[in-house]
Formats: sequence, C-alpha cells, structure tokens
Amino acid sequence: MSRENVLSLLRERQGEYLSGEAMSRALGISRAGVWKAIEGLRQEGYVISSAPNRGYRLEQGPDRLRAGELAGPLSGCLIGRKLLCLDTVDSTNTECKRQAMAGEPEGLVVISDEQTGGRGRLGRTFQSPKGCGLYLSALLRPKLEPAAVTDFTAWVAVAVCDGIEACCGVRPQIKWTNDIILGGKKLVGILTELGLESESNALEYLIPGIGINVNHRPEDFSPEIRDMATSLSQQLDKPVSRVELAIQVTRALDRMYAQFPENKAEYLEKYRADCLTPGHQVQLVTPVSREEAWAVEIDDEFRLVVEMPDGSRRALSAGEVSVRGMYGYV
Ligand code: BTN
Repeated sequence: MSRENVLSLLRERQGEYLSGEAMSRALGISRAGVWKAIEGLRQEGYVISSAPNRGYRLEQGPDRLRAGELAGPLSGCLIGRKLLCLDTVDSTNTECKRQAMAGEPEGLVVISDEQTGGRGRLGRTFQSPKGCGLYLSALLRPKLEPAAVTDFTAWVAVAVCDGIEACCGVRPQIKWTNDIILGGKKLVGILTELGLESESNALEYLIPGIGINVNHRPEDFSPEIRDMATSLSQQLDKPVSRVELAIQVTRALDRMYAQFPENKAEYLEKYRADCLTPGHQVQLVTPVSREEAWAVEIDDEFRLVVEMPDGSRRALSAGEVSVRGMYGYV
C-alpha cells in the first residue's frame, strides 16, 4: 500500500521534486519505507530521478492501471472513491457483483488488466486481452425504483463519449443503444446489470461495465470480430494512455451520476447528437425473428422509434431487440 501512496504523491506533483521527508510525513511512514517504495517502483519500470537535498521526481512510468495512478486525480469523486485494480479477473462486472453482495457501499470501481470471462450483452463474450484495453465496472446503489433506471445505460454511453473526448480529443458515436463506434467500427461495449432484493423488488445495486478497446492491434481481436472491431490506437495512429483514459472516463461517469436522473434534458440532447442509428435502414433481430425497419428518431425515453414496411411505428426499448445496420457494422 505504501508503494501506491508514494506513487500517488509523485503523480500528483509530477515534474516537481518531492523530498523523502515530506512524503514520509504525508503518509505517516518512515524515510526507509519511502525509499523502499521508490526502489520497488523503479523495479517495476518507473523512472524516478533523485537529487540531493531536493528528493525524488517521477520522470515517466509504464501505463499500468493501478490505484497509485488513479486515486489522486479521482479524489473528490464518488465513483472511484475506492479502487480495486486487478491483474486478472473473470469479469469486472462479476467482481463488482461479488463486492455488492458482500455489502460494499456505492462508488467502488473495479478495473482489471485482463478479463478471462468478459461478458457482453445477450450472453455474448467480450474479448478482453491483457494490457490492451480498459475493462472497468462501477458499483452504484441509487435510491430509485428499478423502472427509473431503464435508460441508465444510455446515460453511461454519453458519459463514455465525454471521457474519450476529454482524453483523446475525438468524440465517438453511439449505435443504439449503447455500442460506441469510431471509424465505422465498434470501439466500446457497455453492459449494465442490476440486482433486485427478492422480497421487495427494490433496487439493490446497479453496475455499469465498460470495455474500451484502447491499444489493441488488429491481431489482438479474433478473426471473427477483426473486421467489425477497432481500438483508439488504431483510429488515432498512436498509443493511448489507459491511465489517462480511466481517469477521464471515471470522472465523466461521476459527473453523469451526480445528475442522474434529474438532468435528463442534457443527456438526451447529447445522446441524440451522438447516436448515428436514426436515418438508417436497420434489421431488428430477436432470437426468433428478423425484420427490416427504418430508424426514425430517439424519443424522450431514449427509445428508438422505427417505421415498419407497412408504415406503422414502434418505439423500441433497450434489451427488447438487437438492432443491426444493413450495410457494414453500423
Ligand atoms: C457488449 O458489447 O455486448 C457489452 C460488453 C461489455 C464489456 C464490459 S468489459 C467490463 C465489464 N465486464 C464484463 O464482463 N463486461 C463489461
């Protein structure tokens, strides 16, 4: 833990020297403890210079998703008030659920360097190779009726676009309901899960899980999805810092959650601006049917209004059908 705390202090004051004594005072550990933490960080690949009478300065470090990198920039946020950063896990959503069931209060964020059983919607898997992506879930406990959170996943999609834009300077688009697209290919998947108390049906927890393809090369995706999937580094033609992305996405989630559900007008307006589905011919796919329709607009409940070949209109809710583009992935 002292290693994470020392890293957090060095990150907060990056570019400046920080004396061993100041760190030892701030953290309540001995000077020898500070020195040991610095040596440990150096062994992990952090370049930390030291100068007599001035102390230590962080020059550069590996792009590792860990509490010491994230805690400082997220101080003051509810989402991210506690961080569980893992090397590997079955699924960050599943781990978040385990924590929820053990009584963890809201605000926990679980991040893993890889997922061995990453889950997507409709029972699909989400490929989560090591070291390439951002796989993040947050534990929330809103005091709302379950029916009041049906559009939450659309709010999450807007927040993820905000976070990516803040980190990378590009704003992706949303394929209804919550796939995030860049360059015509899938960049992000979102899986929001909730838990209800069996007797009262009250909402016990809400877990948005976000998987962003960050530094994947084409060969990091399986051949089946290679043509449909993309990553930020492929689109921007340069590596992207997962640490900076995790900070910006978590902050955007935190800002969004503070306004949920009151500030619906703002999120609806952003969702409509970001969503590329209206104005396209789509296929509505259920386990037993496949129909063509024209996507018309997003209504005030974040539903997709479609016009059927007979001219009738339907408003589709998330989870009801899967919407596929007719030409290419979108
Ligand atoms: C989809 O595209 O169908 C949704 C994919 C959601 C993937 C994320 S990665 C973090 C979190 N943990 C999971 O197991 N799934 C979500």
